[in-house]
Amino acid sequence: MKLLQACGVTKVYGGLQALTDVDLTVMPGESVAVIGPNGAGKSTFLNVLTGLTPPTTGRVLFDGTDVTKLATHKRVRLGIGRTFQHGRLFSRMSVLENVMTAAETCRRGGDGAPRETAMRVLERMGLAAQAAEAVGSLSYGQRRMVEMCRVLAGKPRVLLLDEPAAGLNSGEVEQLVERLAALREEHSVAVVLIEHNMGMVMRFAERILVLNFGSTIAEGTPEEIQSDPAVLTAYLGEGYSHADL
Ligand SMILES: Nc1ncnc2c1ncn2[C@@H]1O[C@H](COP(=O)(O)OP(=O)(O)OP(=O)(O)O)[C@@H](O)[C@H]1O
Ligand SMILES: [Mg+2]
Repeated sequence: MKLLQACGVTKVYGGLQALTDVDLTVMPGESVAVIGPNGAGKSTFLNVLTGLTPPTTGRVLFDGTDVTKLATHKRVRLGIGRTFQHGRLFSRMSVLENVMTAAETCRRGGDGAPRETAMRVLERMGLAAQAAEAVGSLSYGQRRMVEMCRVLAGKPRVLLLDEPAAGLNSGEVEQLVERLAALREEHSVAVVLIEHNMGMVMRFAERILVLNFGSTIAEGTPEEIQSDPAVLTAYLGEGYSHADL
């Protein structure tokens, strides 16, 4: 059963064609990366998937239901969770309180108490020891992890991440990859990752979609993408090999 599907998504801003006829299918538990040069349309595509931006034409399906016209908060309740490039946290509140408010907002019938849900997520993501600390006192990498915990408290079935590794050091990127892999394994959470960190993309993604000027120029496994001439040209111009990526 397909979990998330984009069908022929096109987005026009005035005279600018930000997305042209983009298709994507994500299966439960799958990890898909969306890459492409700056301005390729990656964030716009994520915004269409989450409902932040209506597509000019095309459709978005979740779990077989057309959600193209559904508001963002309703998609969140269905299980479409996303982090932002510049997340918003309550810096004077504790880590636990930040995650609890998210658990509260997204609470569904049958869910446990928000505090328990929040603690479980913090434990799983390795932040339990910081639960009582004010978010403002954390490192940048830890704050980004709290943002992720807030999204996870809503129990997403697909997690859409816009450049989660930006600003993280290599150890933190490593941790992030491990924790995302565990989430997929233990809870079958699918992940759609936008990322410029090619090391992370190639290690984490099972499948990669490459956008350039709003169009799909390639789709395939990391191995296929790394040796795809159209991809190399889009990133580097003519005459380069994958060793330059
Ligand atoms: N709200 C908007 N109004 C007008 N143009 C927009 C809007 N949002 C994005 N664009 C344009 O659409 C194109 C795609 O932008 P988008 O932010 O999706 O690219 P991106 O692939 O995420 O780039 P980056 O890697 O730099 O984050 C760009 O030319 C951008 O200027
Ligand atoms: Mg972007």
